Order: sequence, then structure tokens, then C-alpha cells
Amino acid sequence: MSDLVSYTKDGDVAVITVNNPPVNALSPGVPEGIAAGIDKAQQDSGVKAVVLIGSGRTFIAGADINEFAKITSGEKKRDFGLLPILLKIENCPKPVVCAIHGTALGGGLETAMACHYRVAVPTAQVGQPEVKLGLIPGAAGTQRLPRLVGIAKAAELCASGELIGAEQAAKLGLIDKIITGDLLAGAVAFAREKIASGEPPRKTREISNRLGDPAANAAALAEIKKQVSQKARGMKSPLAAIEAVEAAAKLPFEEGCKKEAEFFLKCLFSDESKGMIQTFFGERIVAKIPGIPSDTPLIEIKTAAVVGAGTMGGGITMNYANAGIPVVLKEVNQQALDRGLATIRGNYEATMKKGRLTQQQVNERVALIRPTLDYNDLKDADIITEAVFENMALKKQVFAEIDNVAKPGALLASNTSTLNIDEIASATKRPEMVIGHHYFSPANVMKLLEIVRGAKTKKEVIATSMAVSKRLRKTGVLVGNCWGFVANRMFGPYMREAEFLVEEGAKPEDVDAALYEFGMAMGPLAVGDLAGIDVGWKVRNEAKDRFPADMRPHRLTDKLYALGRYGQKTGAGVYRYERGNRTPIPDPEVEKLIAESAREGNIKQRKIRKEEIVERTVYALINEGARILEEGYALRAVDIDIVYVYGFGFPAYRGGPMLYGDTVGLKKVYDRVCEFEKQHGFWWKPAPLLKKLAEEGKTFAQYDKERAGT
Ligand code: 3HC
Ligand code: NAI
Repeated sequence: MSDLVSYTKDGDVAVITVNNPPVNALSPGVPEGIAAGIDKAQQDSGVKAVVLIGSGRTFIAGADINEFAKITSGEKKRDFGLLPILLKIENCPKPVVCAIHGTALGGGLETAMACHYRVAVPTAQVGQPEVKLGLIPGAAGTQRLPRLVGIAKAAELCASGELIGAEQAAKLGLIDKIITGDLLAGAVAFAREKIASGEPPRKTREISNRLGDPAANAAALAEIKKQVSQKARGMKSPLAAIEAVEAAAKLPFEEGCKKEAEFFLKCLFSDESKGMIQTFFGERIVAKIPGIPSDTPLIEIKTAAVVGAGTMGGGITMNYANAGIPVVLKEVNQQALDRGLATIRGNYEATMKKGRLTQQQVNERVALIRPTLDYNDLKDADIITEAVFENMALKKQVFAEIDNVAKPGALLASNTSTLNIDEIASATKRPEMVIGHHYFSPANVMKLLEIVRGAKTKKEVIATSMAVSKRLRKTGVLVGNCWGFVANRMFGPYMREAEFLVEEGAKPEDVDAALYEFGMAMGPLAVGDLAGIDVGWKVRNEAKDRFPADMRPHRLTDKLYALGRYGQKTGAGVYRYERGNRTPIPDPEVEKLIAESAREGNIKQRKIRKEEIVERTVYALINEGARILEEGYALRAVDIDIVYVYGFGFPAYRGGPMLYGDTVGLKKVYDRVCEFEKQHGFWWKPAPLLKKLAEEGKTFAQYDKERAGT
């Protein structure tokens, strides 16, 4: 046996243990090790049953995701080696019991289902999360799962990729027994029960009573397809997963496996899986910060405080309460405090109505929030986050107040979206403790936390901020202190192009539709109406150096701002809105404003293709991203991608704007940017890094690798 898989005996039960930390992935050698264990058990006449178990923190968490890129690059052959090994397990004449703790995911669950029986600890989770990598199960998961839980449930699990707990899995028939004590001892005892029963081992592939009748299946699958098309808009793998599951009901097992393999390969070689896999690893890469080792001491966070109970402060407060951390909430007056608290309660109640929280949970969370009007109440907080209006003088005043009361060693964070962290920090006597914690609206929902490092920020403060993001169930991305940081600095050119396209003849709804179809969560003009036309206008007017006088004016938004059309909050912006309804409605009044803007700017209106809309907006993101990367305000291209996927709803299946640039080809992007510069003006000047990579025929991913020395 290998180091990866060990073989021991407990009397008449052989124990095969997978030992491939950290998550017991099915890396090369693991499936072969399991097969060797099965062979050995089969040949040993003293062995009457087998237990398969994982060592360390989990059972098998799936195929080794690193291997997929080797297959798509041609380095490794298209390998379906796991399938015959799973058949070997299933064909073993002695009962094989799979013992699950941690997670049995993807190929891990497929291995478990090839065993004759499954037992699990109550905290175990199982699932086929391949669609979250743009894939489908590739080792008969779509064929064995329906035989255990039925076609509809299998389709739902494979298409959503959601994990389920052991108790639910047991109810569905996926787990045979929950083991509350020692897992291995429980599994061995269960195996002995099977030996004693004398019944032949139960082969999953031979179970057919749960496959249902075609008519009922068809109706259920149609409904799941409909839901998936909405939820995973633009993605192909969830639909492929459903079709593969459907094949289980229509075809014999072996034929079904062939069908699954066809779909699997198609998914594996798609840009969708490339993008989703990059997002999976990207989320983990951003947690690794050069110069800040993982053993950097952390500030212990037991209590928190938030200053400002507005839109963002309220959401940030909820994040802490949701994580079980007591939080003091400070406002300027009782009225603002009451309003903030009422919004928080309202949000919790809405979640409760959807069945996602119980009354008791709501009460517990609200009880963790201590409202105050007095800065002195912040004195015990380990972390204080400021979320007052976006105004430098006010932020400095608030930080000076915080500095007066905060205990030594407290982490001081600002939620500013554009202001200079160093200048804010200069209002305190401890700039090394100050950092940006830039949340995205709604702060209690959006997964991104942009963490802005100041010139003097201590390593401990950065490391603690990354740890806090994890505790708050966010993805923290460390960025540098430039105007707008990464997220908003890139957002500017994106929004600029959306507006300019409209002045050039594209209808607002066409611009939004093109980007929605591209996969963005919302079109840019609808986003502008949501965030506030006034907010964008103020930002632009306060950052004059970024918007030189000879730049093409933002005529349309200037007009909207002057008319008080601030977006959803005033019932009208680029679109108009019915009371209590967030659906954007095209407005003939705005058409007039657009025509006026075009006239004033001497802009000839023309018909604009969808492709140009996407190029103009998304290439603007890429060009600015390249500049940010070269200037060192993002650590890696992948950090920018994660910012956009989790902060702005950029489609994960495209990997983020930088990977999308790589997919299109940086030469093509660069050539178009050069054309746009000629057609429109200096604000389209290509970023030097984009030019360099395009000329060298390289990608942002290669740039990341070269800089990391990998
Ligand atoms: N392959 C390779 N590496 C993996 C991996 C996998 N399947 N799963 C996790 N890792 C790595 C992570 O990249 C991370 O590496 P790092 O320390 O260098 O950053 C390390 O293992 C630990 O992972 P996490 O930080 O994510 O640890 P958590 O404890 O937070 O989460 C987990 C554990 C729930 C297992 C989570 O890692 C996860 O969801 N993994 C992916 C599971 C998955 O998608 N499986 C399906 C794979 S596809 C498949 O099986 C195809 C099959 O049908 C043929
Ligand atoms: P808001 O206007 O909703 O809330 C600001 C709150 O701060 C108000 O309730 C106000 O009473 C309070 N406040 C003002 N001075 C105070 C003081 N001295 N002490 C305590 N409270 C005080 O503003 P919003 O939108 O929540 O923005 C707050 C910060 O978050 C800004 O810096 C903004 O740039 C940033 N931000 C906003 C986002 C958004 O989408 N709204 C997204 C990300 C960051």
C-alpha cells in the first residue's frame, strides 16, 4: 500500500484509510491505492468485510481539481480511470462500508456510492458540487445518485451543487446509518452486522426501484431546468448535469455512464469550467499575502463597534451579530439610531419570513447589538468600523474621536469607498492600526470585503482583517490605497462607457440587456440608478484630477443630476420606477435628454451592436485593471477577478474581467482599446501592461505566475 492509502485489519474487517491531506482529494495514487486495498481484502480469506474511511479532517472531498488543467492542456490524457476502480469496489463480493466524516464531495461521494453501504457522523456533509466548477459528476455520480435518491432529487443536487447534511442524506436514502460515537468503531460494527446478515452486498448500480416513471420525471425535470436557468443564468453545466441524470432513467447503467462522460468532457473543455475553477482557486489564492505569513499574530476579536447606522453601517453591524460577536452601534442622534435599528430589525424579520432564521435566532442577533450615542461606549471594542458619510473632514473628525476612546491594540477600520486611508489614519496617533474595510452594498449580503492597506498599516492588522473577513463569511481581498481602490476605480470607466454608448445611440435598456446577457448580475445603468446618480456625480466632481477638463463630459448624468433624477430612491434616474417597484421602465423623458446630450456633444447617433457594448464596457474594466495591476494596487490579476465576481456580480463562469481578457486574447483586447482611443479620446489610452502582454503574446495568468515565481 502507498503513503496515500493504508490497509489495516480489525479482526475480520479490513480498513482502507485514505491519507492525502488536506482534504483527501483523489490525486494520482489515491484511487489506485483504494483499488489495491480492495484486491487485498478480497484475496484475504480472513477478511469478511471492508470499511473505507478518510484520515484527518474529512472523507474524500473530490477529484484533485489541479489535475483538470493538466487534461485540458494536453499534459495528461483524458482519464476516466476512476470509473473502473469504482466498479471494482462495487463488484467486491465482501460488503464494503464507507465511513464519512467532514465532507464526501464530487468524486468522494461517487466513491461512497460505489460502496455497498454508507455510514456517517451527524456533522458530515455530502454533495455533487461539480457544477460549482463548471463541471458535472464524472465518475457515475449522475447514474448512482438517482438510484439512491430518485431522479428529481438527484437532478436537483447535481444541478445546484448544494451540499446536504448527514441527517437529510439519511432521510433521502443516501446514508444508511448515522454514527454518533467513534466513526470507525461504528462502521466496523455496521460491517459486522452485514456479515452476520449473510445478505449479498447491495450494488447501487443494480437498484432500480427509485428511478420513477418517465412522465413524472419529465415534469419534475422540466421544473428543475426552469429554476436552474434562472438561478445559474448563462451556465451550461447545470443543464448538462440534469440531462445526464435523466439518462439514468432511460438507459442501462453502462450506457448512462457513457452519456455522462460525453457531457463531462464537453464541460471540462469549456471556458465555463476554466472560469469557475479559477474562481475556486482564486478565492483561496487571495487569502495568501506575500510578506504576511499565515502564522502572523492576530488581534483577538471578541467585541466590535460600528460608527454610523446608515445603509452600510447597519449591514456591517448585522455581519458582526450574525457571526455571534457583540457589537456596539454608534450614531449622532436618537432619531438616526432608531432608524438604523429599525432597518436592521426589518432585514432580520424579512429573512425570518423567508424561513431562513427562527424568531429565536433573530432575537439572539438583535440582542448582540448595543445602540449608543456616546463614543465612550466604544472603549472595549477590539475592532471599530467607521461608516459615516463619505467626507474626508468628517471621517478625520470621527477617527480622532475614536482614537481618544479606543483601547490600545484595537483595530480601526474605515468603510470609505474612495477616500485616502493614509489621510484618514493621520487623524489618529496610531496610523499603524488603521485599515480600510470596504464592504459592498447590501453589506450583510455581498460576499466581498475589500481590505485597503495604508502606508503604515501593521501586518497584524492586515492578517486580522483577513481573518475577520472569514469569520464574517466574506472573501477578503487585500488592495492598495489608490483612488477608488480596485473595485470603484475600475467601476468608473465601466460606467463611463455605458453612459457614452447611450449618447452614441444605444438605448439604455439595450446596454443593460447586452451586459445582463453577458452574465452580469445587473446592467450598468440599472446599477447606477440603484447606487444613486447623485453618488456617482459627487464622486466625479470631487475627484477632478481623475476627470480632466478636456475629457468628454458626462452630459447625460449631469442632466439627470440637475433634474434631481437620482435613481430608484427618487423614483427616476436613467429609468423611471413605479412606487414600491424596482423594475426599471424606459422613460421617453430620458430619450429626450439623450438626444439633447448627443446634439450638444456633436455626437452622431448610430446603431450599436451588442458585441460593441460588451467590448466598450468590459474592455474598459480590463484596461483599468491592467493599470492597477502594474501600479501594484492589486497583488495579482486573480485578486481583481475575485473583487469583480464577489463585489459586482461579474459572472464567475467567466472567471472575472482579467481572466475574461485572457480568454478573449489580450492582443485582441489591446487592438480594440487602441481603436477606441483613436475613435473616442485619450481616456482610452491602453495600459502599458496590456500593451506589453499583448505584444509578448502573454496572459494575465502568466503574469501572475511569473511574478509569483511559479
Ligand atoms: N482538489 C484539490 N485541492 C483541493 C480540493 C480538491 N478537490 N479541495 C480543496 N482543495 C485544497 C484547497 O485549494 C486548499 O488549498 P490551499 O490550502 O493551498 O489553499 C486546501 O485544499 C484546503 O481547502 P479549503 O481552504 O477550501 O478548506 P475548507 O476546510 O474551508 O473546505 C472543502 C474544505 C469543503 C472540501 C472545500 O475545499 C471544497 O469545497 N473543495 C472542493 C470540493 C469539490 O468541488 N469537489 C469536487 C471536485 S470535482 C470532482 O470530484 C469530479 C468528479 O466527479 C470526477
Ligand atoms: P448613509 O448616509 O446611509 O449613512 C451614514 C450614517 O452615518 C448616517 O446614519 C449618519 O447619521 C451617520 N453619521 C454621520 N456622522 C456620524 C458620526 N459622527 N457618528 C456616528 N454616525 C454618524 O451612508 P452609507 O451609504 O451607509 O455610506 C457610509 C460610508 O460607506 C461612506 O463612506 C460610503 O462611501 C461607504 N460606502 C457606501 C456604499 C453604498 O453603496 N452606500 C458602498 C460601500 C461603501
